[in-house]
Amino acid sequence: MRFLKTVVMAGLILASGQIVNVLAQTVPGDAAAGKSMYPLCTSCHGVNGSGSQAMGAPKISGQLAFYTLKQLQHFQNGLRGTVAGDMKGMQMAAMSKGPRLKSPEALANLVAYVSSLPDESITPTIQGDASKGKSAYPVCAACHGAQGEGNEAMAAPRLTGQSDWYLVAQLKKFKKGQRGYHNADHGGRQMRAMTATLTTDESMNDVVAYINSLN
Ligand code: HEC
Ligand code: HEC
Repeated sequence: MRFLKTVVMAGLILASGQIVNVLAQTVPGDAAAGKSMYPLCTSCHGVNGSGSQAMGAPKISGQLAFYTLKQLQHFQNGLRGTVAGDMKGMQMAAMSKGPRLKSPEALANLVAYVSSLPDESITPTIQGDASKGKSAYPVCAACHGAQGEGNEAMAAPRLTGQSDWYLVAQLKKFKKGQRGYHNADHGGRQMRAMTATLTTDESMNDVVAYINSLN
C-alpha cells in the first residue's frame, strides 16, 4: 500500500512539473501580474532581486528564466531543500509552498516579473586565485558556456553575475549531497558529479574567482 502511494505521488509530481514546463514555453508569464506577488520575496532577495548575504538568499535577477522556474518547482516538489542540515534550502522550500504560488500560471507570472528586474552587478566577496580557477573552468564551460552565460539546452544556469558566496555555498551543497540528491533531478545529479573535479574548498574559491573575472 505504502509503495503504491509513493508511486502515485511521484507520478503526480512529475505530471505537475510537466504542466508547468509546457506552460512556461507556450504561455508567456505576465510580469505585471507577477509583480503583485513579488513582495513575498523581498524580505530575503531584496526589492531588486539582488539578494542578501546576511539572509543567505542569492541574487535572483539576471538569471535565465527557465532556471528560476525550474528551481522554484524543485523546491516545491522536494527536489531541493529537504536534506538534513540544509537550513537555507529548507527556508526557501517553505517559501515556495505558499498558497499564492500553487498554480502554474501564478508561478509563470512571478518568474516573468523576476526576469524583468534590473541585473545589478555584484560586489566580490570570495578570495581565490582566478588564474588557477581558469585552468579548472574549461570543463564547466561545456555546460555553463565560455563566459558563464548559461545554456538552457544543457539545463545549466548563468553563473556570471551571481553572488559569489552563493556559488561557493552551492558547490559545497552539491558535493555534500544536499543538492542533486533526487532521482528526478537530472540536472542537479549531473552537476553533483561535476563537483568531483573540485577536491578542496580552495579549488572552489579559485574557480569562483575566475567566474567573477568574467563579469
Ligand atoms: C525567508 C527568506 C526567503 C524568502 C522570503 C524567499 N526566499 Fe528564495 N531563497 C532563500 C534562500 C536562503 C535561498 C538559498 C537556498 C540555498 O542555499 O540552497 C533561496 C533560493 C532561491 C532561488 C534559487 C536561486 C538559484 O540560483 O539557485 C530562487 C529562484 C528563489 N529563492 C526565488 C524566490 C522567490 C521568487 C521568492 C518569493 C516567492 C523567494 N525566493 C522568497 C530565501 C528566501
Ligand atoms: C554536464 C553539465 C555541467 C557541467 C560540466 C558543470 N555544470 Fe554546473 N550545473 C549544471 C546544471 C544542469 C546545473 C543546475 C542544476 C539544477 O537544476 O539544480 C548546474 C548548477 C551549477 C551551480 C549552481 C548555480 C545556482 O545558481 O544555484 C554552480 C555554482 C555550478 N553549476 C558551477 C559549476 C562549475 C564551477 C563547474 C565546473 C567545475 C560546473 N558547474 C560544471 C551543469 C553542469
